[in-house]
Amino acid sequence: MAASFKPRIFSGIQPSGGLTLGNYLGALKRFVEKQEEGIETIYCLVDMHAITVWQDPEKLRQQTREAAAAFIAAGIDPKRSILFNQSQVSGHAELAWIFNCVARIGWMYRMTQFKDKTSGKNAENSSLGLLAYPSLMAADILLYHATMVPVGEDQKQHLELTRDIAAKFNHDYGTEFFPITEPVIEGAATRVMSLTDGTKKMSKSDPSDNSRINLTDDADTIAKKIRRAKTDPLPLPETVEGLKDRPDARNLVNIYAGLSGQPVAGVVAEFAGAQFGTFKPKLAELAVAKLAPITTEMNRLMKDPAEIDRILGDGADRADVIAAPILARTKEIVGMIGRG
Ligand code: AMP
Ligand code: TRP
Repeated sequence: MAASFKPRIFSGIQPSGGLTLGNYLGALKRFVEKQEEGIETIYCLVDMHAITVWQDPEKLRQQTREAAAAFIAAGIDPKRSILFNQSQVSGHAELAWIFNCVARIGWMYRMTQFKDKTSGKNAENSSLGLLAYPSLMAADILLYHATMVPVGEDQKQHLELTRDIAAKFNHDYGTEFFPITEPVIEGAATRVMSLTDGTKKMSKSDPSDNSRINLTDDADTIAKKIRRAKTDPLPLPETVEGLKDRPDARNLVNIYAGLSGQPVAGVVAEFAGAQFGTFKPKLAELAVAKLAPITTEMNRLMKDPAEIDRILGDGADRADVIAAPILARTKEIVGMIGRG
C-alpha cells in the first residue's frame, strides 16, 4: 500500500525580474486561494534558481524583497503561510545534490524550458545549474513532502520530472519515502500570453515592456498597455469555440475571466459581438481595479525592507523545522552517516 502523506502545498517563483500579470493569475492569486482553503502552504522565492542565468546581485536582492512584498500585498499572510527565500534553507541545495545523482542527464536535456533558454545559443556555454534546474526544483518540493504544487501551465513538464525523480529514488532505495506530487494547474488563466504576441507566454524576461503588465505598473500604464494590446479586426465571438484560432483575442478574454473570477463562457456571453474598442476599456478598468490596491500595498511594504527581511527569516526558520528531519532521513536512506 502506498504511504499516505499529509496534504501540503509548495510553490515557488523566481525573483529574476518584476512579477507580471501572468505570475499573478497563474500563481499568486491561486496561492492565496489555497491558503484560504486552510491547507498548509509553503511559498518560496527561488533565488538559487534565479542565478542559473546571470543576475546583478543588488537587483536580485531588490527583486526578492519586491516579490515578497507582492505575495503579502496579494493576500499571503506570512503567519498562516510560510514565505521565505530558498537560499536561507540549506536543505534545498543538499537534497538537490542527492537528486542530481538520482536523475539522468538525458532527462534534463529533454526539458523544453532548458531548450528554450538555450535556443539559438551555445547550450555548452550555459551554466551547469541551468541544466540541473529541474533537479533543484524537485528538491524544493520533496524537501517538504509536498503533495500539491500550484503552478502555471509552463511548469507541467518540470512537475512530471519531479514525480519521476521521486519514483526513481523510491525504487532505487526500495522505499516509499517521497510522495508522488500532484500538479495543480487550474483556472482560466494558467497561461497568460504576451500582449504583443498572443502565441508567446507573458514573461518577466521579455525584452518588450509593452508585452506584459508588471505588478508595479501604475493605472495609466496598465490602461495604455491594454489599449495597445494586439488584436484582430473581428468583433468578439458569440461562442468560446469562436476564439479557437484567435490567440490575441482569446488571451484578452482569458485575462478578463481570470481577473473577474468568471468562467470564459460567461465573459464571451457578456461581450458577444462587441468590438475591441468597447471591450478593452472594460478590461483596463477591471485590471486597474484588481491590481492597483496590490501595487499600492507593495509600495508601502517596500519602504521597510528590514521588516521584509525579518518576515523571510522567520519563514526560513519555520521551513527548516519541516525540512530538517526529511533531509536527515533521506541521508540515512542513501547510506550517509549523520551526527546522530
Ligand atoms: P516564474 O516567473 O517563471 O518563476 O514563474 C512563477 C510562477 O508563475 C509559475 O507557477 C509559473 O507557471 C507562473 N507563470 C509565469 N508566467 C506565467 C504566465 N504567462 N501565465 C501563467 N502563469 C505564469
Ligand atoms: N521553475 C518554476 C518557474 O520558473 C519556479 C520553481 C522553482 C517552482 N521551484 C519550484 C515552482 C517548486 C513550483 C515548485 O516558474
